Amino acid sequence: MSGCPFNRETRSSPVDLDDGLENDAAQEGINKAALGGLVYGDYLQLHKILDAQVLESTKHHNTIHDEHLFITTHQAYELWFKQILWELDSIRQIFYHRQIKNERNMLKVVSRMHRITLIFHLLVDQFSVMETMTPLDFFDFRHYLAPASGFQSLQFRMLENKIGVPDSLRVPYNKRHFRDSFRGEEFEKLRLSEIEPTLLQLVQEWLERTPGLEVGGFNFWEKLKKSVSERLEEEACKAKLMENATLKEELMNEIRKQQETFGSLFDEKRHIHLMSKGTRRLSYKALQGALMIYFYREEPRFQVPFQLLNSLMDLDSLMTKWRYNHVCLVQRMIGSKAGTGGSSGYQYLRSTVSDRYKVFVDLFNLATFLVPRSWIPRLTPMLHRSLAKASCCDSSYSSGGDDESDAGSEAGCSGRCGQDHCVCCFDAAAAAAAGRGGTSSPSNTADQACEGFTPTTCNGRFSTTAMATATAGHGPRSPTPPAATVLAREAPVTQNLNKFLVLEK
Ligand code: HEM
Repeated sequence: MSGCPFNRETRSSPVDLDDGLENDAAQEGINKAALGGLVYGDYLQLHKILDAQVLESTKHHNTIHDEHLFITTHQAYELWFKQILWELDSIRQIFYHRQIKNERNMLKVVSRMHRITLIFHLLVDQFSVMETMTPLDFFDFRHYLAPASGFQSLQFRMLENKIGVPDSLRVPYNKRHFRDSFRGEEFEKLRLSEIEPTLLQLVQEWLERTPGLEVGGFNFWEKLKKSVSERLEEEACKAKLMENATLKEELMNEIRKQQETFGSLFDEKRHIHLMSKGTRRLSYKALQGALMIYFYREEPRFQVPFQLLNSLMDLDSLMTKWRYNHVCLVQRMIGSKAGTGGSSGYQYLRSTVSDRYKVFVDLFNLATFLVPRSWIPRLTPMLHRSLAKASCCDSSYSSGGDDESDAGSEAGCSGRCGQDHCVCCFDAAAAAAAGRGGTSSPSNTADQACEGFTPTTCNGRFSTTAMATATAGHGPRSPTPPAATVLAREAPVTQNLNKFLVLEK
């Protein structure tokens, strides 16, 4: 027994636990909870959360140990979904109210997007905890939960809707719509999430305003088209001079392929056709904006937007990984048995792990259109300068407040701020000179003159232009009517959007 660390009496040099406690700085302070007031458990309302693990198996007088893990894991997922929706709503608010033109808010958007992606990393990994349960253990209580199923998760559906998963591309579930699983208040929340502007639509609208796209200004698209076609011609000329017939043929084939690829990029009709099939999701103009940010990502004003585009792709990838890990878990637990919700189970879920559910698929595909640096059109000195510093609407250097409203920073920005090379003023001036808005849409002109860089916030609601953008690309995403109908019936739809605003506030 001698030397046994658990036997205090026989320890050779027993530790005196009280030694020095009186003078221990670590023990300073008072227990404030003893004085009354708000305490940890009450603040977090833990009585609600920790009393919410009610085992169905216990109700049936047959407690199955692992059902506790099953319930806790699902609840943890739902709590994180709630946090993601919270962040996502705030991001959509910033875009919706055009607070994004204050570039300080852009950083906020990117930080919150980053937070969402970190949470998603957790959610992707969390399935491994559930995998510690064996299929047999699950089998012991599975019958108690039917017909409940994750398929009925309202927050998951709202998340998909708010990001912009289109109805038309969803895999049908027993030939029924997932909406049929919801009733009453849940149904209303779901419907609202279907008609609110999605993250995709809001990002699209923002991308369409990318400085440098103006036809009467830098005209990035035309410049790029010209540069790519000239460079490919040059390459073809060089290839024709090659002596080795095999190499020559190979190179010519490669050049022809490139010409076809870029031909499809510069063909607006083809783009619209691909959008109607769901292969492309962003408008033609937004795609141009995204490519411009890709190419000129090192310019100061494009650095944060570039990060945003990356985190949007991260979000899509992580959603796909979530679906993949979930389906692997399902196969491990129930093989090819039908789900408790009534679907084919594994087969149904497997078909959702697809690009159909990728919202920002265009951003991934942009890599197809990247070109050597030397092919990228050079910025004009003026655009170069304006991309080197934030616009005059940016108050990030003058105000330390955390207010998401940019009303203050707007003051004086109406084309007359007096600063050199101000993008807002440049756009407004260019628009006035060209008799059109800073974006190529003629309908923007009046609004553009009103607010310089950002056309549609003058009246505190979506303008018809923005509404068209907000509803375009919905496809059969019921109940959103086609854009033309929306324009004709703007008032009722605006009411719906106002409902969204009230709810969001
Ligand atoms: C033992 C573990 C699990 C099994 C066997 C399982 C099984 C299934 C099955 C079979 C479906 C298809 C619908 C049906 O017929 O019921 C489904 C859907 C779903 N499950 Fe799970 N699940 C498990 C864990 C989880 C967890 C931890 C979550 C986290 C929230 C979750 C969330 C969902 C969601 C959101 C759907 C709808 C997916 C879609 O329609 O795209 N599941 N699950």
